[in-house]
Amino acid sequence: MNENLHQLRCFGCGARIKGAEAQPDFRCSACGELFEVEYPGWKEKKGPERPLAGALKWLWRERRASHENIDHSGVWRFRELLPILDSFGNVVSLREGNTPLYHLHRAAKALGIDQLYAKHQGMNPTGSFKDTGMTAALSVAKERGFEWVACASTGNTSAAMAAYAARAGLKSLVLIPEGKIAWGKLSQAMDYGAVTCQLNTDFDGCLSLLTEIVKQAPIHLLNSVNPYRLEGQKTPAFEIAEAFDWNVPDHVICPGGNLGNSSALGKGFREMFELGLIARMPKISVIQAAGANPLAQSFARDNGATLEPVEAHTRATAIRIGNPASWRKAARVILETGGWCLDVSEGEIAVAKAELGAEGLGCEPASAVTLAGLKKLVAKGSVKSSETVVLVLTGHTLKDADYTIDFHRGTLLDESEAKGLEGAISKLQRNAVVVDATIDAVLATLKGVSA
Ligand code: F0G
Repeated sequence: MNENLHQLRCFGCGARIKGAEAQPDFRCSACGELFEVEYPGWKEKKGPERPLAGALKWLWRERRASHENIDHSGVWRFRELLPILDSFGNVVSLREGNTPLYHLHRAAKALGIDQLYAKHQGMNPTGSFKDTGMTAALSVAKERGFEWVACASTGNTSAAMAAYAARAGLKSLVLIPEGKIAWGKLSQAMDYGAVTCQLNTDFDGCLSLLTEIVKQAPIHLLNSVNPYRLEGQKTPAFEIAEAFDWNVPDHVICPGGNLGNSSALGKGFREMFELGLIARMPKISVIQAAGANPLAQSFARDNGATLEPVEAHTRATAIRIGNPASWRKAARVILETGGWCLDVSEGEIAVAKAELGAEGLGCEPASAVTLAGLKKLVAKGSVKSSETVVLVLTGHTLKDADYTIDFHRGTLLDESEAKGLEGAISKLQRNAVVVDATIDAVLATLKGVSA
């Protein structure tokens, strides 16, 4: 790795180490906190290593027309801001990133916010935002000569890791909570050749076990405690800024599980701000499922100062996490940008997901918390109609088709979860009906369909 340009700084005690000195669990040996990648050369205003904002914007635009493979990656197109490798020849890429930003016409109208967009990270090669982080961390693992990589996962991390490991010719180990991840994701890990262990515990249990395993075996840990993951996951912030011609939106809203993604997006915007690529940072808000809401509870209790782990329960299995590793980093992002942390109910998630689907933008339940959260923020008056808002949709709808089918069949939510939302739900439900193979029967089904 390029030790000249980057170092790791402990988020807790501020200790600085070289990348190669990190412990296998990526925790500080002095205080136990997580590390962040830092680029000391960027601090000197006129230093030779500080990237120049204007030149970067030009270079990144030029790369869109390039024929080089590395330039086709929406992560490595921005490689000047993630100089973590000794050689970019070690990049393992599936052409991740470059995901679409869609205007949300219907939701914008319903909420009275004209400028409402979705950054659809589910359009990545394995169907989730994890690919942007995995290309970065897996490339580091490959460059360091690891044979094995591993992660604990609620499904998407394992799918991404398995795919990138397969591309790099590395072996991968996946620990997942038994029976608590969506089939689409499990099938991916199997298909990409990972050794997949379903453990009789939850995600938090899987991660703490893996943390011990990597201390005993030469396995490179690829959960988002690995700071190189976040270097890749910060690049959607660059894409968002670029899409708005470097006038950042007022507000970016993302789901919160283990809280690596919100931390990474915040780091991306912060670095752009410090390097003069953008003039201000957007507010960044994090939305959790009510049954897996330790950070939302923390903000309600003491504004993000302490975290009490919870036993997590939600059908949005991607974010079924009760003891998020990166909560301190995420709390800093929310506080420094003036964003919020809220939770939303199972019913609110299901309705928001169906509303996005009805706009042609299918996503995972975990992604839909963003729209559900925005509705709450608008209702509280925290988001104004004049603001530009971007929802980060983190996963593809096909990851969890069972959830969608159950919603439309009316078997997803129980009565108490659907309470107060019955009207919205019945308007959105489109169950597949069994119909005689005649013209009249098919045309008869069109009658009474709500707008
Ligand atoms: N959305 C989706 C679709 C996810 O898969 C995850 C996390 C999140 C949101 C939350 O992101 O953890 O960075 O706050 N999934 C992890 C996994 C935990 O194992 O796939 P976070």
